[in-house]
Amino acid sequence: MILKVLGSAAGGGFPQANCNCRNCAGVRAGEPGLEPRTQSSLAVSRDGESWVLLNASPDLRPQIAATPALAPRPGAGVRTSPIAAVVLTNGDVDHVAGLLSLREGFRFTLYASARVLAALAANRIFDVLAPGLVPRVPLPLGQAVEIVGGLELEAYPVPGKVALYLERAGPQLGTREGDTIGLLLREPATGAAFHYVPGCAEIDAALAGRLRGAPLVLFDGTLYTDEELIAQGLSDKTGARMGHLSMAGPRGSMAAFADLGVRRRIFVHINNSNPVLRAGSAERAEVERAGWEIASDGMEIRL
Ligand code: MLT
Ligand code: MN
Ligand code: ZN
Repeated sequence: MILKVLGSAAGGGFPQANCNCRNCAGVRAGEPGLEPRTQSSLAVSRDGESWVLLNASPDLRPQIAATPALAPRPGAGVRTSPIAAVVLTNGDVDHVAGLLSLREGFRFTLYASARVLAALAANRIFDVLAPGLVPRVPLPLGQAVEIVGGLELEAYPVPGKVALYLERAGPQLGTREGDTIGLLLREPATGAAFHYVPGCAEIDAALAGRLRGAPLVLFDGTLYTDEELIAQGLSDKTGARMGHLSMAGPRGSMAAFADLGVRRRIFVHINNSNPVLRAGSAERAEVERAGWEIASDGMEIRL
């Protein structure tokens, strides 16, 4: 199984268009230790031929352009793509807007929870994905299914919340019905497997049980501390209010993973405010000491 990190940043990317925080200003100025990053997405393939995208970011077109494996194969026809499926882990803009860049007419299968598919169905702009070409398949929660591309996928609910644009009806924090899901992907022939959880509000007992002993987990690395956006004057929201568990602190993800025995741990969906983006920072040293890696755009993993 081959994994390619297409984008390692959270919504907004790095640098974010309207952001003058220390990191964003620094990366624009070419400060050493800071690399630009596109928005959250991973591509996975069993054979390197047929690819499944885990989330479709607003940066999908340049991500495809930067990834030769996702380009049409010579001689494969005039309207063709190795992208066979897209799986969504929630309905947030940074994970669904790229679907609009896949509208030019080729066949792929769209998988998501029933709740996220309902959010897409309520938004007519996604009708540009013709139903005859792009079937939308609801994922059962807690049950492995075979998806196109020859991979096995188990989606499971994780503590999260509805998409930001659905918050008019109230933030609905802590929902566990599939507004936010984690994914366990497995290659049946080899048993190679990994978890992808780019958004998660809390590691509860159920999630800890699932992740225990896993060979590889790519996990929500949005914020280092819960109050970081407030402290930097960027927003009045805590991480908890955004549905993102922070890395640091006694209730953070590093602490929650400490005893789970997960062999390889990689932070993804990293917000531009996060000090771990800066190589050489104390916070980067701290996550590395705790056994974590920071994903970068273009990172490839073979299982
Ligand atoms: C998030 O991860 O909190 C979302 O990407 C927020 C957003 O849609 O801007
Ligand atoms: Mn996001
Ligand atoms: Zn910023």
